[in-house]
Amino acid sequence: MWHRTELIRSENLHRAGELIKLGRLVVFPTETVYGIGADAGNPDAVAAIFAAKRRPADNPLIVHIPALAELPVVASAVSTLEYALLESFAPGPFTLVLPRAAAIAPDVSAGLSTVAVRVPLNTVAQRFLAVAGRPVAAPSANRSGEPSPTSFAAARTAMSGRVAAIIDGGDCRYGIESTVVKVDSGRRRVVVLRPGSVTIEMITAALTELAVDATRSRSDPDHESWSSYRVCFAGDLGAGGDDAAAASPGTRHPHYQPRAPLYLLPGDRRELLCPNSFGCRVGMLLLESLPDRLHPTPLVKVFRDSEEYGRLLYRSFAWFDSVGCDAIIAQLPPAAGVGLAVRDRLTRAAGGRLVPLQPR
Ligand code: TXA
Ligand code: MG
Repeated sequence: MWHRTELIRSENLHRAGELIKLGRLVVFPTETVYGIGADAGNPDAVAAIFAAKRRPADNPLIVHIPALAELPVVASAVSTLEYALLESFAPGPFTLVLPRAAAIAPDVSAGLSTVAVRVPLNTVAQRFLAVAGRPVAAPSANRSGEPSPTSFAAARTAMSGRVAAIIDGGDCRYGIESTVVKVDSGRRRVVVLRPGSVTIEMITAALTELAVDATRSRSDPDHESWSSYRVCFAGDLGAGGDDAAAASPGTRHPHYQPRAPLYLLPGDRRELLCPNSFGCRVGMLLLESLPDRLHPTPLVKVFRDSEEYGRLLYRSFAWFDSVGCDAIIAQLPPAAGVGLAVRDRLTRAAGGRLVPLQPR
């Protein structure tokens, strides 16, 4: 369906709240990426999100609330450990999977009994959610399979004509989607279903701290055993009978792909990058420094660390597409900290393609 899309400035959020109450779609900024929001309790509004994005019906949505006080409207149960993790990382780029409450439309969860909940840190997002006055289901504001928009201009390009309104909230601070986490109390582990800017190292440190605090206060004997929880990345758990991949259905679909095919550098083979050796217009994403023989050009982006790489990753894809690159080459950052999330997005976007090895 074609819509005349209103552009809403951050001073006029009451209009955005009104549209949500009417069951319409509103694109809004968060600190990670822009999202397409709709009333999470209205099944027709939720169905409209899937249609606007052409999203597969088996990929569940994240529900956004302005503060943890609203949690009981979204989740039917929260353990003390889950609540402690939320208190450690919310508001922020952190999403926790919990049992779904009755007020949330079942299609939000794409057939699962759980719901993913997030409290964004971005102040425009918080004010928008407060005026909407109800939980807002929102996937990233890209068409399914494409990179997520991290600026107002990118959100407008992706969603104009498909939604009722787009809120202008400037550029996103982190640039990659939130960390999605599920607590598996049976196996005593915290599973990171999708890595993001709240890193495995940060969650591990928080768990240690929570276990120490709990032991000190001795308020509940179960708290002491939090120290036995491990934090693991679902991508490392492997398929072999494990339920982790099934638990995060979104990871099954192609994702984050620019128009130009993306190729990863095998290992750290930066010597493969000779100017003009590819015979076509190539955009490059590199970390830390330029390899010998290459000179800075608008098509060669060098990031100083994984945080900057993550923040500018989708914007770089959009830039390379806008100047008509035939291919994009990317160096993988180390698998530590935010680097794990950047590797995850690059690996999925490349769909297994590596830079072809050149004869030496
Ligand atoms: O940063 C973000 O999380 C952004 C902003 C808008 O908040 N949203 C976002 O939504 O990235 P989306 O729909 O693009 O990604 C949602 C991810 C998918 O990987 C999906 O499988 C997972 O969250 N997810 C949602 N509900 C789930 C559930 N009940 N169980 C497991 N995974 C779930
Ligand atoms: Mg997405």
